[in-house]
Amino acid sequence: MLLHFMGQACTLLEGHGHRVLIDPYLTGNPWVPQPPPDFEPTVILLTHGHDDHFGDTAEIARKHGCPVVAMSELAKYCTDLGLKAIGANYGGSVEFPWGRVKFVPAWHSSTTGPNRVYTGNPAGLLIWFFDRVIYHAGDTCIFGDMQLIGDEAQIDLALLPIGDRFTMGPRDAVRAARLIRPRMVIPTHYNTRPFLQQDPEWFRNAVESETSARCIPMQYGDRLELNSLKLI
Ligand code: NI
Ligand code: MN
Repeated sequence: MLLHFMGQACTLLEGHGHRVLIDPYLTGNPWVPQPPPDFEPTVILLTHGHDDHFGDTAEIARKHGCPVVAMSELAKYCTDLGLKAIGANYGGSVEFPWGRVKFVPAWHSSTTGPNRVYTGNPAGLLIWFFDRVIYHAGDTCIFGDMQLIGDEAQIDLALLPIGDRFTMGPRDAVRAARLIRPRMVIPTHYNTRPFLQQDPEWFRNAVESETSARCIPMQYGDRLELNSLKLI
């Protein structure tokens, strides 16, 4: 079972023939070769509607006929585009052959498309992928209820934004890791825009010296094995 991180929030979970693509910002993503490769997802999960997360959702879902799972207003937007969509809301889960995804709060905003359609509240995703538990925080500031998210399960892997300006910066993301208590942290949402420049090595050192988690800043093309939590 593998995790690929492709910059901003774009993440692929792969295992036993299932490919879960999260926030497929591929076209225009400076970390991704252009034109982007086809990851042939079996399902797309969205944290919120902003263009650097919604990305290529419509094209990919149309091409592969895979469902898009999102907060209810964003799911309705997808249905209006003719996509197969599954809506949910905070505290609720959607089940799959590989496990489930539970929608948890994120403090941010959410609009979609050129007309800035309002697409409800943004979310974080708590994902049980086979026997692994992954918390994809989406775009958010730090909030105290991250502690509750960490209480629910031993989180193997937390993907936390560090870019600042539109999300937590690196210092708050270290404090967030202390609340969530994951085995590993992967920084997201940085070095994709001039105003999101951060030093992932500073963040790695801070996480590993101030929390019990390990930290691996991933680059495009890196593959993290989800059982060993090591790059292969
Ligand atoms: Ni956003
Ligand atoms: Mn964003």
